[in-house]
Amino acid sequence: MVTISPIEKIKKGKLLFEQNCLLCHGALGKGDGYAGIYLNPRPFDISSEKVQIQSDSTLFFKITLGKAPMPTFKALPFESRLYLLMYVRELGKNNNKQTAKNDSKN
Ligand code: HEC
Repeated sequence: MVTISPIEKIKKGKLLFEQNCLLCHGALGKGDGYAGIYLNPRPFDISSEKVQIQSDSTLFFKITLGKAPMPTFKALPFESRLYLLMYVRELGKNNNKQTAKNDSKN
């Protein structure tokens, strides 16, 4: 089996996110994708604490099963869903950085 580095996994996750999630969640996961703005409920900010405090297994489960109007992604290979989860965590880190930056401005 070919092993790939965490960086490569996150890169794959980013690509999968762009293909499967961006249209609703937006590039940074803020819930502002062009389809997302027409949904009810709106997809909320997945980089926010509300999502990021949830455990890996909870988020993995939600990505797998979806949550109406979010579709299920159980057709994606296990690894793909894992990489997506890693990318969702990356989005969370970026969000924290942004908050830290904003804080220092005040
Ligand atoms: C058709 C639009 C749509 C697509 C595509 C979509 N989502 Fe969602 N997502 C939503 C909506 C709407 C919610 C909020 C659902 C709710 O609160 O009932 C959501 C919620 C979430 C949540 C938070 C769940 C929670 O309860 O905390 C995560 C994480 C998430 N989506 C990840 C993803 C990932 C990863 C993908 C791509 C594999 C994806 N979504 C694709 C619409 C979408």
